[in-house]
Amino acid sequence: MEPREFFIEDRLERFRLKAFCNLGESGLGFFRLEEVLRMAGISFSDLQDLPMNDAPNQGSLELRSAIANLYPGVTPDQVLVTTGTGEALYLAFHMMIQPKTKVALIWPAFQALYEIPKMLGAEIIQVPHESGFHASTWKDIDADLYILNHPHNPTGKTFSEREWNTLLTWFREKKKKVLFDEHYRFLPGEGLLGRTGVDPNHFFYGTGSFTKCFGVTGLRVGWLVAEESFLQRARSFKDYLTHTVSPLSERIALGLLKNKESFLPGIQSRVRNNIVRFTSLWRELPKTKSFTAPEGGLVGWLGLESGISSEKYADRLFEKTGVFVLPGSNFEEEGFLRIGFGETEERMAEGLKRWRECSDLI
Ligand SMILES: Cc1ncc(COP(=O)(O)O)c(C=O)c1O
Repeated sequence: MEPREFFIEDRLERFRLKAFCNLGESGLGFFRLEEVLRMAGISFSDLQDLPMNDAPNQGSLELRSAIANLYPGVTPDQVLVTTGTGEALYLAFHMMIQPKTKVALIWPAFQALYEIPKMLGAEIIQVPHESGFHASTWKDIDADLYILNHPHNPTGKTFSEREWNTLLTWFREKKKKVLFDEHYRFLPGEGLLGRTGVDPNHFFYGTGSFTKCFGVTGLRVGWLVAEESFLQRARSFKDYLTHTVSPLSERIALGLLKNKESFLPGIQSRVRNNIVRFTSLWRELPKTKSFTAPEGGLVGWLGLESGISSEKYADRLFEKTGVFVLPGSNFEEEGFLRIGFGETEERMAEGLKRWRECSDLI
């Protein structure tokens, strides 16, 4: 059993550190350690005393408590700290999916959300994003597991309050199993923290992290939320994989979660300003034809004029301007580019200026 190549990764590896203007990544531009410690309220001398033993297998109680506080009614015993959201998904899928399990998710999607289920023999039901944010669409789909990634990567869409409440009520009444991937929850359309569907007592499990939203992807901290017996099985599975998360990452993660009110509004206004800027001028970018402004998260989905290869467009744009974007083909959807909004506002403005003025793109 082996998953196919992870399509976005080769391009991200090649360009993310070379790009003048990085609109290819789905995370906020990274902070340096000194800045991260300041955000987390930790001094270098605090770190000197940190015992570098294995952190507890499930994650430290303090960190699990801080994570549990993000979810109504969730206890620290229902939280497993993992190496990124990727590991949390990997564990959850191995425990929820057998050959022929029917898995429904919004399409296009972050590849790990369907590639690992496929590797395990699942039948994937693709729910097009155009209809995927309406509750009625899901009521017609008979699946064993529903995956809801909101705000959504790569389109930036999410559910309206009304559709959301209707859908959750339906899932609850029908006793459906749902996995909520809420990686971008710290960047809602408005407010400090976006809504969650996680409710372990109703088999609504969740994966999450703050690393993309806070600009600290190198910390590699994520989590799984589920009811206790499921979580203990996941913990035991994790013992064979990464076993524990570094105590250094855990300590910084705890500081960041406790202090988020002090730095998150600044990050949110940067991302929202970038989205506003892009929304006001995308029509001036050569050979583009549609854009739906993201309702949350860090990415959006830009449509190209028909017949244009997204890969060629992205290559040429990088060559000519140093602006890095991801082609839709990396999401198995031709005719689109995924645009990230985590750049600094200055570089975003200059990158868009260069892109707009680039007359010989295709
Ligand atoms: C929707 C979604 N889920 C999960 C992940 C994996 O995240 P992590 O880097 O925390 O493993 C990503 C990364 O881009 C993502 O976009």
